[in-house]
Amino acid sequence: MTTLDHDWPEPIVRVQSLSESGCPLLPSRYIKPPTDRPSASAVTTALNIPIIDVHAFNLDQPELRATVLAQVSDACRNWGFFQIVNHGIRPELLDDVRRAWYDFFHLPVESKQGYANNPRTYEGYGSRLGVQKGAILDWSDYFFLHYLPPRLKDHNKWPAQPLSLGDLIEEYGEEVVKLGARLLKLLSLNLGLHQAYLQNAFGGEDVGACLRVNYYPKCPQPELTLGLSSHSDPGGLTLLLPDDRVAGLQVRKDDNWITVKPARHAIIVNVGDQVQVLSNTIYKSVEHRVIVNSDKERVSLAFFYNPKSNIPIGPIKELVTPDKPALYSPMTFDEYRVYIRMRGPRGKSQVESLKSPK
Ligand code: OGA
Ligand code: NI
Repeated sequence: MTTLDHDWPEPIVRVQSLSESGCPLLPSRYIKPPTDRPSASAVTTALNIPIIDVHAFNLDQPELRATVLAQVSDACRNWGFFQIVNHGIRPELLDDVRRAWYDFFHLPVESKQGYANNPRTYEGYGSRLGVQKGAILDWSDYFFLHYLPPRLKDHNKWPAQPLSLGDLIEEYGEEVVKLGARLLKLLSLNLGLHQAYLQNAFGGEDVGACLRVNYYPKCPQPELTLGLSSHSDPGGLTLLLPDDRVAGLQVRKDDNWITVKPARHAIIVNVGDQVQVLSNTIYKSVEHRVIVNSDKERVSLAFFYNPKSNIPIGPIKELVTPDKPALYSPMTFDEYRVYIRMRGPRGKSQVESLKSPK
């Protein structure tokens, strides 16, 4: 339909269509090599990522604030992932925005093709990440849009249906941006920096923010594939709204995968590669992936709170010491994200490959 479609190395197939076709066999393009399949390494459901009640951070009570700071510090150092509750975003808004995105993905595929995206901007309706011809694909469709900077926000590129969706994205975006800014304060304080430090390092008022809404349709052979392959998030911080009725996200902890059990109305927060670089690896971005299942579909909203895209991001000078020399050379986020956009999700290979030679 759109000429831009041709920028992908081969015709795009919507996972929704494959799922709705009712075929009992997973198409071979989605069959992962045995070592990448969900069962290839130990999976633990007994553990969960930390759940932190952040309400107290807004109160004028130093002791309670100190407790929240300590919990966030521990989660950032030992997990790279945590869930926050009492974060201040209205539960109804979370339910409404998630419901509206389900409604969007339930529209017939044909009515969404007008939003088909291309690998130059990734904006719009997509079904793959990476442009390598013949790549094994993930079992998901998605919608990607820009929220900040204002110059990149374009309502004409957002779904026109369901009618409520535009307003909901606006309202949700505003709330999540505020939350991202508050989290950066916590992280700055925990790194021994002024509370505005990371926000300034991200470009001050000029941060970037974008939303990737993932749709994981029911899958006929979920044990052979992944909804999203293992990766770390390239950006700053990710704030993920999961569906608290359907598990799917798995986080790597040593040699195990931990299936996240979302708390009701929680937001899952994780450290991205840019925070790993800025913190000179005091905080590490952590690998995660998504498993799918045969009887439940799932939608998640991944909101990426990113540095301004054209400023150099390198280790913060206060965190570089004779014992801990700078591990990375500065690079802009625009340069950085080319990798995942070309190669697709590949564990932590990018950020690992960037370590400066000693
Ligand atoms: C992502 C992501 C996890 C999920 O979009 O980067 O990791 O649960 N999503 O959908
Ligand atoms: Ni991710």
